Amino acid sequence: MSTVVLVYSGGLDTSVCIPMMREDYGFDKVVTCTIDVGQPAADIKEAEDKANALGTEHYTIDAKDEFARDFIFPAIKANGDYEGYPVSTSIARPLIALKAVEVARKVGADAFCHGCTGKGNDQFRIEFVMRALMPQCGIIAPMREKNMTRKWEIEYARQKGVPVSQSVEKIWSIDENMWGRSIEGGRLEEPDFVPPEEIYKWTRSPQDAPIQPRDLELGFEDGAPVSIDGQTLAPVDLIMKMNQIAGEHGVGRIDVMEDRMMGLKVRENYECPAAVAILTAHKALEALVSTRDEIRFKKLVDQEWGKLAYEGLWFDPFKEDLEAFINKIQERVIGTVKLRFYKGSVKVMGRASKYALYSEDLASFDSQTFDQTKMEGMVAIHGLQARMYREVRG
Ligand code: ARG
Repeated sequence: MSTVVLVYSGGLDTSVCIPMMREDYGFDKVVTCTIDVGQPAADIKEAEDKANALGTEHYTIDAKDEFARDFIFPAIKANGDYEGYPVSTSIARPLIALKAVEVARKVGADAFCHGCTGKGNDQFRIEFVMRALMPQCGIIAPMREKNMTRKWEIEYARQKGVPVSQSVEKIWSIDENMWGRSIEGGRLEEPDFVPPEEIYKWTRSPQDAPIQPRDLELGFEDGAPVSIDGQTLAPVDLIMKMNQIAGEHGVGRIDVMEDRMMGLKVRENYECPAAVAILTAHKALEALVSTRDEIRFKKLVDQEWGKLAYEGLWFDPFKEDLEAFINKIQERVIGTVKLRFYKGSVKVMGRASKYALYSEDLASFDSQTFDQTKMEGMVAIHGLQARMYREVRG
């Protein structure tokens, strides 16, 4: 008996894969798995209902805690970013694939099936993990293989009795997890098209955001956010709460030109309220406790980390190397950051840490601890080579 494990979102693409796996690819058994990384509960339910209707063996796996602790927190420590995008979809893909591998091992699968197209990054991220952990399993990507159009899919779905929900008629293609929401498709792909208000779900428009600013204090331990206004929160709860607060104040809308892995340049829209707020605070705290060489060098390290995360190379040794450096620095990223949310902006209003490399006594205009007379020699030598250059050039 041959078994295929389908990474199942409940959307149209992956739903048409179910009859296709049976009829075109000849699998005896289709196992579907939906991984909960904080997408809407209604989506998870829809996937379950459709899987039932289509008679698959279905698994829903709650990976929210693991996603927050083992994927989002490392991203925070690395100020996870790729071209202005907080890598929210990118970092969920390896975990989704990891969970699919667990299911595949459990059911003794012969192959995986996923709904990634040939134009996106997700195919790289998902297949890398599957190949790394279960190289003996085949991988089928019908969307990529068959070059399907949406119209054809809807027709095929109707023929095969696949429930087609209202939402597929909508033009936007949406991917959601607790670290962010990505909205693609339709005219949004045009770099010059102004996104309509309707694409946003987690963020209020700055115009409609409360006129009253909202202040809060975010606490960090070892570079990870642990509390809001002194109240300790579990990772998932903290992220959800931040999404709610920052979103309410219109923070987190991101519109970028993005260079996909295969070189396609695309316009992308995201809303990532918690990510924008938490990363702003994290950088502010690092700036207080790290030396200037550490800060300068960590920017390079973070950028490399962001590229690996974007490419889904979650188990790359280079990533481990970078994280050794990142985590060492995070040992001192302990303290609090005061944030103010106001009409689409988040501003750092204060920061404090027991590891602050700041001394009021040294920096203050009113203090004599710092012996200014010692500076004379340092200042006199400053720019020595530049002055010599002027001389030799005449
Ligand atoms: N461009 C982003 C990325 O590559 C978001 C992709 C969203 N994926 C999707 N299937 N809609 O990470």
